Amino acid sequence: MSVIRLSDEFLSEIRYRNRIEDVISSYVNLKRTGNTMKGLCPFHNEKTPSFTVYPENGSYYCFGCQNGGDVITFIRNAENLDYIEAVKYLADRSGMSMPESGYDDSAEKMRKTLLEINRETARFYHSCLIDPKIGKRGLDYFYQRQLTPTTIKKFGLGFAPDGFYNLVNHLKSLGYKENDMILANVAGRGKNGGAYDRFRGKVMFPIIDLRGNVVGFGGRKLPGDEGAKYINTSDTPVYKKTKNMYAMNLAKNSKSESIILCEGYMDVIALHQAGFTNAVAALGTAFTEDQATLISKYAKEVIITMDSDEAGQKASKRAIDIVNKTGLKIRVLQIEGGKDPDEYIKTYGAERFKLLLEGAKNDIEFNLFSAKAKYDTDTDAGRLQYLNDAVEILAGVNNEIAQNIYAGRLSDELSVDKQVLTNRIKALYKKRAGARQKEQLREMTSPTVRRDDINPEAVRHKRAAAAEEIIISILMLNPELCTTAFEQLSEEEFITSFNRRLYKALKTALSTSKAFDITMISSEFSPAEMGRIVLIQNKATVYKDSRRELNDCIAVLKEENNKLQKIDSSNMDNDEFAKAMQKIAKNKK
Ligand code: UTP
Ligand code: MN
Repeated sequence: MSVIRLSDEFLSEIRYRNRIEDVISSYVNLKRTGNTMKGLCPFHNEKTPSFTVYPENGSYYCFGCQNGGDVITFIRNAENLDYIEAVKYLADRSGMSMPESGYDDSAEKMRKTLLEINRETARFYHSCLIDPKIGKRGLDYFYQRQLTPTTIKKFGLGFAPDGFYNLVNHLKSLGYKENDMILANVAGRGKNGGAYDRFRGKVMFPIIDLRGNVVGFGGRKLPGDEGAKYINTSDTPVYKKTKNMYAMNLAKNSKSESIILCEGYMDVIALHQAGFTNAVAALGTAFTEDQATLISKYAKEVIITMDSDEAGQKASKRAIDIVNKTGLKIRVLQIEGGKDPDEYIKTYGAERFKLLLEGAKNDIEFNLFSAKAKYDTDTDAGRLQYLNDAVEILAGVNNEIAQNIYAGRLSDELSVDKQVLTNRIKALYKKRAGARQKEQLREMTSPTVRRDDINPEAVRHKRAAAAEEIIISILMLNPELCTTAFEQLSEEEFITSFNRRLYKALKTALSTSKAFDITMISSEFSPAEMGRIVLIQNKATVYKDSRRELNDCIAVLKEENNKLQKIDSSNMDNDEFAKAMQKIAKNKK
């Protein structure tokens, strides 16, 4: 990171042409409140806005997940780029050209190479598929699954031929290095150190990100072959499976306000072919919160369509819990007869599937339905068990009206007095509310939450760290106070090393500039650290007399330094004491 030295002029131009509120507005719906703007955080799931933008000092901060920084940090986080890539992104966005040299772009070059390798690999596999001499087995398979040539093309499907060096040799002929092929995970490293094809005799599903880059692959074995059903790309510098979704690149352009979440690649493709272009799937992993966040950027509702087997039902429940953390609505599609969407459409057609979609149950209905399925509700005992489960489910719903509606339905369905039901639900809900609060309190005070990853020393040196942060904050806001501060207080006097680093960076920045702007230091800190820096930066806005506050804090910090020195020397005394004790012990013997 140390090679990066973009000039202050260039950076302030970047900042000037990419106003933070404009840049963030294309990701987050921001509403102005006084001097700040607020919206729903794009980096974690939330229902009430804690994501705050400060146009005045060009920063943002989320009070829910501590993500924060300047406009460059935002792009790093939002587009998953490193520092230089994010600067280039902003330069491009605002029609600026990058300086010729003086920065380290090796990480960016590497990623570019990996993306090229992925693209060439997808092309190669596709051309193998449509070459009858090579890809007949693969193409026959896709046709047997009733995919049309248009669909095959649209999804860029392919065939990886048998043999260990087809792709590797092809990529070599294009000038790519074996190491890069291995990094892209299209090749493995053989015992002799060389690269060999990772996918052999498989039909291939390229995974394409939102910007149209091929980032990875799923390879399915053909019927009759040995081995796992699918081999997938592991995480690489350009691919993280928990953050991507299959076909999201296509689904995001569908006009629908819902996203259909399927289990498999084949389901997604069948749905698209049948006209449901809002279908996506997780990538060989369980559905994640990051994926829910991704969906919430493009849709208001998720319709979950897991297989109707036990594993599918479990996956549905899990997905419901995850989606429930977002503002997204949920419905669950129940497909009768153990079928997945692909099979269902083939058997009954797209029209019937559409009706099925329209009738999809919401999450409460789904949970009640699966509870009911467990018992024989023709018997009193079974009805009672179902009722107990149902009360549990409704007590977990954070919405009194919904509780009421479903209590009414249950009372009709099972001929039980509605009042009795609602009373039980309410009582259980209250009991849970107490438990929920206790849990929250415990989380807030538990040591794991208090652990500070960014400035781990702050916990042990609370008073010093607080003073350090106020000093830094005041100087960021009032650079004219710097000269005196820098004279009075050396960086060695900072007790926590993170704040010491920050103070030093501030000193360097202010040695060449009269005004401070966090963009001047954002190349030196990680995105997580930038979040903390914004939090520190905004501390000083409350002081009436900054000079006095600054002097007080400098005094506090010096005091804390003195205390530490005393402890140090008393530690030496302790050592000596211990030695003396040992001597005494020896003499006794
Ligand atoms: P499925 O077995 O349902 O596969 O697994 P599918 O894509 O629907 O294929 P067909 O229709 O049965 O032929 C669902 C998803 O789970 C992941 C893949 O992402 C697959 O699409 N998976 C499954 C793996 O990653 N590895 C496996 O071995 C199996
Ligand atoms: Mn399937």
